[in-house]
Amino acid sequence: MSHLLHIDCSAVSQGSVSRELAAAFRKVWAEERPDGQVVHRDLGADGIPHLDEAGILSQLLPAEAQSPEQKAAGALRDELVNELLDAEAVVISSPMYNWTIPSTLKAWIDQVLVAGRTLTFGGPNPLENRPVTLLLAYGGGYTPGAPQEKLNTVEPYLRVVFDTNLNTDLSFVTAQLTLAGTVPGMENLVDMAAESKKDALAAAEERARKVLSSLATA
Ligand SMILES: Cc1cc2nc3c(=O)[nH]c(=O)nc-3n(C[C@H](O)[C@H](O)[C@H](O)COP(=O)(O)O)c2cc1C
Repeated sequence: MSHLLHIDCSAVSQGSVSRELAAAFRKVWAEERPDGQVVHRDLGADGIPHLDEAGILSQLLPAEAQSPEQKAAGALRDELVNELLDAEAVVISSPMYNWTIPSTLKAWIDQVLVAGRTLTFGGPNPLENRPVTLLLAYGGGYTPGAPQEKLNTVEPYLRVVFDTNLNTDLSFVTAQLTLAGTVPGMENLVDMAAESKKDALAAAEERARKVLSSLATA
């Protein structure tokens, strides 16, 4: 295991809050590990294909029975799975789109969850306790007790994947209310949004330090 796997998902390249959180994490990482290897996948700019029939059959058919299309789809899945399994830590930045994760991130998850490799359904898990950090940006507010709290399916879904099934060392950092400065009716939330972003940037840096120190003592 040698690299940090860094995934960005925002479709927006400029002014993205989730990317800013990832940059804060990476700054600490680079300070502590100037020569550290980082594998960066920008799914917002360069998405990977959705899992299709060829990709599914690539895991079910023996190699000699696979078509060239199925072999190519399987090779992509292998590449993505290896990138994940070989990572000493993973950091994923993502917006909330339509109350859930972007389809780009769902495509990546669908490609990397492979039975017998990353998904063991109760057997020994190769990703057990691997540090995974989710850096999230929500346009609205979904803190406990907020009127929209239960509409947030980002965190519950990601917990099912990375905690319940992959048993990683999972941590969430979230900037809320990022649309407060632009959406009419949210003007009174601008200060709260600024506070949330400030806290999230500090938490992203803190999490990077914590992951680095846990790797140093492992
Ligand atoms: C297509 C789209 C759908 C969105 N859907 C939601 C939503 O359901 N709930 C919400 O709170 N914010 C929503 N937003 C706002 C984003 O979550 C917010 O702008 C966030 O900061 C985007 O992440 P980024 O700044 O890293 O690009 C949406 C934004 C876009 C572009």
